[in-house]
Amino acid sequence: MKRIGMLTSGGDCQALNAAMRGVVKGLSKNADQLEVYGFYEGYKGLIYGNYRLLTAADFSGILTKGGTILGTSRQPFKRMRIPDENGLDKVEAMKENYRKLRLDCLVILGGNGTQKTANLLREEGLNVIHLPKTIDNDIYGTDITFGFQSAIDIATSAIDCIHTTAASHNRVFIVEVMGHKVGWLTLYAGVAGGADIILLPEIPYDIDKVVEAVQRRSQAGKGFTILAVAEGAISKEDAQLTKKEYKEKLKKSPYPSVSYEVAARIEEKTGCEVRVTVPGHTQRGGSPCPYDRVLCTRLGAAAADLILKNKYGYMVAMINGNTKPVPLEEVAGKLKTVEPECRMIKEAKLIGISFGD
Ligand code: F6P
Repeated sequence: MKRIGMLTSGGDCQALNAAMRGVVKGLSKNADQLEVYGFYEGYKGLIYGNYRLLTAADFSGILTKGGTILGTSRQPFKRMRIPDENGLDKVEAMKENYRKLRLDCLVILGGNGTQKTANLLREEGLNVIHLPKTIDNDIYGTDITFGFQSAIDIATSAIDCIHTTAASHNRVFIVEVMGHKVGWLTLYAGVAGGADIILLPEIPYDIDKVVEAVQRRSQAGKGFTILAVAEGAISKEDAQLTKKEYKEKLKKSPYPSVSYEVAARIEEKTGCEVRVTVPGHTQRGGSPCPYDRVLCTRLGAAAADLILKNKYGYMVAMINGNTKPVPLEEVAGKLKTVEPECRMIKEAKLIGISFGD
C-alpha cells in the first residue's frame, strides 16, 4: 500500500489540477494499493491536519480546470520556524500529521518559497517530491515551470487588445505584467505582443532612455507606443537604494505601482497621453493552455515514476525537453532570473525593442 499526501501551496496558476491528475493517473495501475490524501490550502492543511482522502473521481475532468481543487495559501518559508499565535511548532505539526497518516511521501506543488519548505521537510526526514509551479518561471534547475505558458497567453492577449485601441487613439500604453522579482513573463509576453519597450526587474531603466524610445517612434511617424512593464521594474536610481530604503520609498509613493510612476514621467517629459492597464490576477486564471497540460501530465507522470521507485527528495524538472529528477538540496533557495546579456535580450534589442538601459 502506498499512502501519498498532496498539497498545492503559494500563488495558484492554471495547471495545478492537471499536474495532480498526472501524478495520480501515473499511479493508477496500482490503484487498489494507493491512498491519496489531499491537504487543504497548502502547508496550512498539513500544519493543522486539514485533509481528505481523495478518490479517482476527484481527479476526473480536472485536466482543463484552472485553480486548485485543494485550495492554496501563502505560508512564508521565513515564518515556518516561528510558532503560530497559539505557540504551535509548525514544522513539528507537519511531521506529526505526516506520521499520523503513515504517509510514504508528500507531493508538493508550488513555487520558490514552497520549494524551500519542501526542502526543509526533506531535511527533517520526510519523503518529498516537488513539482515546479509558477507563472513567473523563476525556479532554478528547470527550463520551464507550469503556469508560465498559460500566463504568457493571457498577458500577450492583453497587449494585443491594447494595440488596437492604442493605435486608434495615438496613445502611449503601459501593460503591467506580473513578476516582482523576475521578468520572464514580461519578456515573453512583451516580445509576443510586439511591445516597443520592455522594462524588467533585472535591467534597471533610465527614464530618459524610455522617453527617447517613445520619441523615436513618434518621429518615425508611429502614433502610439506600447510598454510591457514588469511589476518589479525598477529605475536605475532606485536600484541604488538598499532593500529597506526602496520599500520605504514605495510605501510613500503616490503611485499604486511602478507602471503609474513610469506613466507620469513619460507624460511630464513628452506631453503624450499615457494609459496604464493592469491585467493582474487574470494572468493566473482560467484554463491551462495545451502546452501546460502536456507539461503537467509529463511532470506528474515522472513524479509517479519516482514514487513507484521510492526515490524521494527531488524536484521533477523539464530539461531540454525531458523530465528529470533534480535533488532539492541543489536547487532550493536559488532563483532563475533573466540574464541581461542573454541572447534573447540581444535579439529583442536588435529588432528595436528598448529595455530602457
Ligand atoms: O508568484 C506568482 C505571482 O503571481 C507573482 O507574479 C505576483 O507578483 C504575485 O504572485 C502576486 O501575489 P498575490 O497573489 O499574493 O497577490
